[in-house]
Amino acid sequence: MTVTWLHFLLFFSAISASSSSIILPKPRFLGQFAHNSEGTQSVKSYRYEIRYYTQPLDHFSFRNLSSFEQRYLINKDHWTGPEQMGPIFFYCGNEGDIEWFAENTGFVWEIAPRFGAMVVFPEHRYYGKSMPFGSKDAAYKSADSLSYLTAEQALADFATLLTDLKQNMTAEDCPVVLFGGSYGGMLAAWMRLKYPHLVIGALSSSAPILQFENIVSDHSFYDIVSSDFKRESVSCFETIKKSWDAIEVEAGKVNGLEYLSSKFHLCRNLRNAEELSDWLSSAYSYLAMVDYPYATAFLMPLPANPIKEVCQKIDSLPSGANILDRILAGVSIYYNYTGNVPCFDLSDDPHGMGGWDWQACTEMVMPMSSSRDHSMFPTYDFDYISFEKGCLQQFGVKPRPKWITTEFGGHDFKTSLRAFGSNIIFSNGLLDPWSGGGVLENVSETIVALVTELGAHHIDLRASTDEDPEWLTEQRQVEINLIKGWISNYHLEKGGYFDLQGRMPF
Ligand SMILES: *[C@@H]1O[C@H](CO)[C@@H](O)[C@H](O)[C@H]1NC(C)=O
Ligand SMILES: *[C@@H]1O[C@H](CO)[C@@H](O)[C@H](O)[C@H]1NC(C)=O
Ligand SMILES: *[C@@H]1O[C@H](CO)[C@@H](O)[C@H](O)[C@H]1NC(C)=O
Ligand SMILES: *[C@@H]1O[C@H](CO)[C@@H](O)[C@H](O)[C@H]1NC(C)=O
Repeated sequence: MTVTWLHFLLFFSAISASSSSIILPKPRFLGQFAHNSEGTQSVKSYRYEIRYYTQPLDHFSFRNLSSFEQRYLINKDHWTGPEQMGPIFFYCGNEGDIEWFAENTGFVWEIAPRFGAMVVFPEHRYYGKSMPFGSKDAAYKSADSLSYLTAEQALADFATLLTDLKQNMTAEDCPVVLFGGSYGGMLAAWMRLKYPHLVIGALSSSAPILQFENIVSDHSFYDIVSSDFKRESVSCFETIKKSWDAIEVEAGKVNGLEYLSSKFHLCRNLRNAEELSDWLSSAYSYLAMVDYPYATAFLMPLPANPIKEVCQKIDSLPSGANILDRILAGVSIYYNYTGNVPCFDLSDDPHGMGGWDWQACTEMVMPMSSSRDHSMFPTYDFDYISFEKGCLQQFGVKPRPKWITTEFGGHDFKTSLRAFGSNIIFSNGLLDPWSGGGVLENVSETIVALVTELGAHHIDLRASTDEDPEWLTEQRQVEINLIKGWISNYHLEKGGYFDLQGRMPF
C-alpha cells in the first residue's frame, strides 16, 4: 500500500482529484448533515419563533468591522417568567443549521415545561442563516473572511445574545442552563468555564473536549468504531479489515476502476480507489455514531441497531462469496436502507467544503490514527506535517494545534476543574467513537460523568421514544435531577423564593 493511499483512505479527502498527495484529516462530526431545512423540512416537531440579533464580526477588537445577523430560535410558552426566576434553557448551536439541531434535540423541548423554562437555540456563526458578509459565498471566500469563525467568537456571540435577551425581558435574575451535543457539547462545557457569571451549569453530551494534542490516545476513534463492529460479529470485522486490500487489488487491474464502479452501483466511474475506500469508511464511522437501539432518520433512514444489521448482511452471504459483494450488501444498509437509491453518488458522502474543515484546520486539530491491532481500518499514524501542508494548500492557513488547550484547558483537566469548576454533566455512550475523547470519570461532586455502555452519539439529547431502553430513561432522570439541583441552589442563593413557597414547578 502506498502512503498516499493510506492517508486518503482513513478520513482524508483530496483537495482535487488530481492532487491526491495533499491530504486533509477530518474529524467526522454530524453537522454536515444539518442541511438548511427550508423546503425539505415542512413538518416541525417543536414550536418556536425565529429571530435575528445583530452581532459584531469580531468581539475581540475595536476595529470598525461589519456586523452580521445571528439567527436564534425561541419559545416562551412554558416560561414562568422573571418574577419567579424562570430558567432559560440555552442550546449551544454547533456546526450546522440550527433548525436541524433543534429538531434533533427533543430532550430539551420535553423537559422545558416541567421546569417552567424558556428555550433558546442560537445558531453558530458561519452556519445556517447566520452568515457574516451577507452570504455563504462571501463568508467562505478566503482565509481573511473565514478568520472570524472560531469557538471563542461563537461563545462570545452566545454570551452577548444571552445578556441582551435577558435585559430585553428583564430576566437578568433568571438562571441559564446550557445544553449541547458533540462540538456543541464542547461549547457548552467551555462556556460554563468561561462565563460562569452568565450560566449556572451545562449538560455537555458526547463532547470530545480531550481529543486534542496527546491528552487521549489518537487511536481511540477508529478503535471504537472497529470494536462496535467486532462486538456484533468477529467475521464481519475481519471481512471489513480485509476489504481494503481487496479493493486495492481490483483497482490495480486493467479496467479495475470501471469494474469497481459498476460492482458498487456508483453513478459515475471512480477516479481512484481512495474515493471508494473513503466512502466506505465514512459509512462505518457514521454508523458507529448513530448505532441507536431504535430506528432513526437522523442522518439517513436507518434500522434499529444498524451495525448489527450491516454485519448480518455481510455475514449472510454464502461461504465463498466475494468479499466485495459482502461489503456492498453491508454498506447498502447505510446508503440504501429505503431501497430507492438508483445508484450511489459518491458526493452523497457530504465532503463538500464546510465550515468544519476550516475549524479543523485552525483550532480544532484532533489527531487521529488507526492502530495495527484493534482497528479494522488500515494502520495509519497521524502525520502532522502532511496535515499542516493540506491546510496551507486548502485555506492558506497554518493550524494552531495547542491553542484549544491553552484557551480552555485539557491537560490535567481533573485537577484544574476540581479547583475552579462546577455544575457540568459530561455524558457519553461508549459505543460512540467520540467517547474516547470525552470526560469519563467524575471530577468532583458537581462535575459529573455519566457513562452508558450502550449509548451512541448524544443519544440522551434525543426525544424520548416508546423503545427507549431502561438505562437511557434512567440516565435522563439523573440529568434532570442534577439540573433541578443547580436551579434550586441558585434560587436558594437568590432568596429561596421557590423552595420557601413550595412553588418549584417540578
Ligand atoms: C463604521 O463604519 C460604518 C460604515 O462601514 C460607518 O457608517 C460608521 O460611521 C463607522 N463607525 C465609526 C465609529 O467609525
Ligand atoms: C433586544 O431589543 C432590541 C431593541 O428592540 C433589539 O434590537 C435586540 O435585537 C433585542 N435583543 C435580542 C437578543 O433579541
Ligand atoms: C437499492 O435497493 C434497491 C432494492 O433492494 C435495489 O433495487 C437498488 O439497486 C439499490 N440501489 C443501489 C444503488 O444499489
Ligand atoms: C458520577 O457520579 C454520579 C452521581 O452523582 C453517578 O451517577 C455516576 O455513575 C458517576 N460516574 C462515574 C463514571 O462513576
